[in-house]
Amino acid sequence: MRLRLKLRSLFLLAVLSSCVIIYSFVGVHFRGHLKLSGDDHKSRRFVAKITASVENVTLPHSWTVTQELVDRLTARRNHVQKVCKKYGLDKPTKTYQPNAWEFLINAKYGLVWCNVFKAASSTWFYNFNLLAGFTEQELLHAKETPIQLARKRYARPTVEDLQQIMNSTRQPLSFLIARHPLQRLVSGYRDKILSGNRYYSKLARNILRQYRDLGKGTEKDKPPGSALIERSNPRAIVPSFPQFVQYLLDESTKGRRLDEHWTPISDFCTPCLVKFDVFAKVETMEEDGNYIIFSAGIHDVIKPKRINRSRNEPTDTVADKFLCQLSPKQMDGLLKLYKYDIELFEYDVSKYVNCTRS
Ligand SMILES: *[C@@H]1O[C@H](CO)[C@@H](O)[C@H](O)[C@H]1NC(C)=O
Ligand SMILES: *[C@@H]1O[C@H](CO)[C@@H](O)[C@H](O)[C@H]1NC(C)=O
Ligand SMILES: *[C@@H]1O[C@H](CO)[C@@H](O)[C@H](O)[C@H]1NC(C)=O
Ligand SMILES: *[C@@H]1O[C@H](CO)[C@@H](O)[C@H](O)[C@H]1NC(C)=O
Repeated sequence: MRLRLKLRSLFLLAVLSSCVIIYSFVGVHFRGHLKLSGDDHKSRRFVAKITASVENVTLPHSWTVTQELVDRLTARRNHVQKVCKKYGLDKPTKTYQPNAWEFLINAKYGLVWCNVFKAASSTWFYNFNLLAGFTEQELLHAKETPIQLARKRYARPTVEDLQQIMNSTRQPLSFLIARHPLQRLVSGYRDKILSGNRYYSKLARNILRQYRDLGKGTEKDKPPGSALIERSNPRAIVPSFPQFVQYLLDESTKGRRLDEHWTPISDFCTPCLVKFDVFAKVETMEEDGNYIIFSAGIHDVIKPKRINRSRNEPTDTVADKFLCQLSPKQMDGLLKLYKYDIELFEYDVSKYVNCTRS
């Protein structure tokens, strides 16, 4: 089948990783600077234009989907199935149904993606926009954010739409991109709260007020090279990570719907109820992304360029700094909240658990 796809046109596709660098696939005629806009659909009011540098990616001479990669992806799929079964998550009920809201379906290329915010989402919105026929020029000069553009061509599907395409004779390639849940949470916190992101400033004020007993908050971060600074919340104090986490846990206990940047993947991609072919991970995205692109046969549409959206230190290297501030009880709360994400996608949290206990 897809083993040993010998690839002549070779694109080594770097796909992004944590916060520091975002690799994006941009078309071949692309020149100059790319403006990445705020990464959520609510950001019309807050358009964070980040000018990023663009580099050509040096491609290897040939590239092969190795048996090892195929085996790794198969093992992940089997593991997800096993965990789903273990918790009875593979059986829908009246109140537990597939959630199609965050899916993008490209019928032409047979590609189905469940968007996980804070997990390579900018890159893949860009890719899906190219697949939808937007030209690079349009994408570069658009006033809308990549997500707003994408949703013009990819209406939010219903569950029936999703089932229909998954069931069609020409089976699509379906995928999601997972990320370490606690690192994803830190990334969401840094990006939306600590940065003083304007869209979240009201929430930030509320958290500060509500959790005064947990301290005075913390000084807002100033990511270098980002236009976020001028347009952001003028207040210098934002909720500390423990305050933010306490808010999150309390909201979750009250059964409130969480913001999509920190909702567990198991809730909005419902990986136990939708047949995913590929569980990619941010941590291994270079290889996983290659597999998706070549398996779906879209390597002619999506040409590789690397966009370096440089910021502070990458999340995975500073995650301890944030997570180790939590109390053991808060850590327990997070382990419960992200229990399925941790198990389904096999993430090791012991490092972070240990440091809250010592
Ligand atoms: C990338 O490659 C193209 C085509 O080979 C070239 O014209 C362009 O100058 C290169 N861009 C950079 C930033 O090196
Ligand atoms: C999918 O197809 C099978 C067989 O073709 C059919 O039995 C089943 O009802 C279909 N499911 C959905 C959700 O359309
Ligand atoms: C990205 O850009 C930053 C600042 O411009 C630079 O320090 C860093 O080395 C670049 N990263 C890569 C991978 O090129
Ligand atoms: C965390 O602590 C446990 C028990 O003491 C230990 O076995 C494990 O290796 C530790 N993990 C890390 C990443 O330090």
